[in-house]
Amino acid sequence: MSILITNIKQLVQTRTHGISKVSGEEMNELPLIENAYLLIEHDTIVEYGSMKNIGGIIAEKTIDATGKIVLPAWCDSHTHLVYAGSREQEFADKIIGLSAEEISSRGGGILNAAELIKNTAEDDLYDQAVVRLKNVMQLGTGAIEIKSGYGITLESELKILRVIKRLKQDFNILVRPTFLVSLAIPEVYKDNKAGYIDEVVNTIIPEIAREQLVKYIDLFCDEGYFTLEETDRILEAGVKHSMVPKLHVNKFSAVGGVALGIKHNARSLDHLEQIKPKDIKALKDSRAMPVALPACSYFSNAPYTPARTIIDSGLPLAIASDYNPGTSPSGNMNFVVSTACIKMKMTPEESINAATINGAYAMGAHKMFGSITRGKKANVIITKEIPDYKYLPYAFGENNIDTVIINGIIVE
Ligand code: NIG
Ligand code: FE
Repeated sequence: MSILITNIKQLVQTRTHGISKVSGEEMNELPLIENAYLLIEHDTIVEYGSMKNIGGIIAEKTIDATGKIVLPAWCDSHTHLVYAGSREQEFADKIIGLSAEEISSRGGGILNAAELIKNTAEDDLYDQAVVRLKNVMQLGTGAIEIKSGYGITLESELKILRVIKRLKQDFNILVRPTFLVSLAIPEVYKDNKAGYIDEVVNTIIPEIAREQLVKYIDLFCDEGYFTLEETDRILEAGVKHSMVPKLHVNKFSAVGGVALGIKHNARSLDHLEQIKPKDIKALKDSRAMPVALPACSYFSNAPYTPARTIIDSGLPLAIASDYNPGTSPSGNMNFVVSTACIKMKMTPEESINAATINGAYAMGAHKMFGSITRGKKANVIITKEIPDYKYLPYAFGENNIDTVIINGIIVE
């Protein structure tokens, strides 16, 4: 199948090959071609340029994009979209100020979420995740990372990871699977965290590796979660089993997790709401992509990652949805892009770069995703008729997407 998109008002994020990410001032540059065409063959972008030079190209299908913008599909590098049920009661309870204990006694919180996963059949968990995945594809996400972590026990973690594997096989979208070490210590290990870490290192990681279920390993290295020493031990075990590290880090405090992640050659370091000069320095000497999660800050009424500090010091930045039932029950990257502009003072250019090429880098997918580049996967969003690409983040909460094409196929 070949698809020719013609009369594109702005073809945004056109890049030659070899650009893996954009950093610092480069983040404010968003290359585009006005009045452009784009040719897709099978799952690949094969040609694009000005309408003046379209010549005699013929394709099986032509889409007239007069008045519309075309840009790369979003690359969402941080989600937890395989979970059971939803937590709107907890949402309402938090609004009226109930304590964590009260919320938990009414069925909210991570341990209850884990219990629900345990009691949900794998097929049911899969069906629930399918609804979410289809929804974010319609909202323009064309490559996605999905983490476990809400399972807590080995059995439930494996159940989630197998569901992620099925999504990867069944859907026409790049899915990067990540083992996220439990978001909470299981009840049986309540007074024996060291025993739990032994189980993670000696049993859980080897079993997940044996089934070849993941590319990445991730965990929370922060105050109240895993300490530096514990994180060091867990990441070392993951790396030994060929898993590539990522970290949830500096959400609550900057205790040195950034440097530790970098020591283990982390692909990305996510959250970073708290950041110290030493973290910036460590990031500068590394290949790790800093990732901000503005929808999580928004939903939790929590601090935002200081994007200006990060970008103005010359670093790259990606943004992702953190789609999860507790702190970001939305995988809408259009909202994430808007919120990065509105709350983090990122320019529309920086925000779109953060959600495309830098997001692709954060999940090791930049060679084939994240920009309009000859030879890359045909992953594009065609907007409705809008005046300019800046209108997308400006008109927050509106759905301005007309058509999404992922790997050369139009999303229904
Ligand atoms: O601990 N990214 C997800 N992690 C959340 C989970 C919170 C919850 O589900 O209640 C966190 O911040
Ligand atoms: Fe997360």
